[in-house]
Amino acid sequence: MAILPILIAPDARLKVISRPVDTVDDGIRALMDNMLATMYAAPGVGLAAIQVNVPKRIIVMDLAREDEKPQPRFFVNPEIVWYSEEQTVFSEGCLSFPEFFDDVERASSVRVRYLDYHGKPREEAAEDLFAVCIQHEIDHLEGVLFVDHLSRLKRDAILRKLQKARRLSVGA
Ligand code: NI
Repeated sequence: MAILPILIAPDARLKVISRPVDTVDDGIRALMDNMLATMYAAPGVGLAAIQVNVPKRIIVMDLAREDEKPQPRFFVNPEIVWYSEEQTVFSEGCLSFPEFFDDVERASSVRVRYLDYHGKPREEAAEDLFAVCIQHEIDHLEGVLFVDHLSRLKRDAILRKLQKARRLSVGA
């Protein structure tokens, strides 16, 4: 398994709309394995393929707590087929925005339809952190970032700080 470089905002490639996967084959499974290894190494709880510069509709996730066994999950071509009217606010972060967190309001529960690691169609209900995470990751597939849910003022401030950090690290 390989650890892949994660794109850091601001990066135009993070705004690309990802394309559906035709067949969940060994190549796709190898990509999912590498994405999972990359997410664990970061460490993070969710990663979309576009964050490793692969514009395919693939998400990996593991919401197990530190004291629990790993629970890797794989979502190919995920689609939200139902949103609750009830909303929840959660302080979100993103591996493409290291060290930034802010409150985002989203549906508190959703139903998601997807293909699993073996290409089998599945549908399940998501609540709590799972609901937050799947909505955040599916946004990535549309080129939408969590900062796009914030005010323009907050978004611009975060992007300016990231740009400054990049200039400093390139200059070092
Ligand atoms: Ni993210």
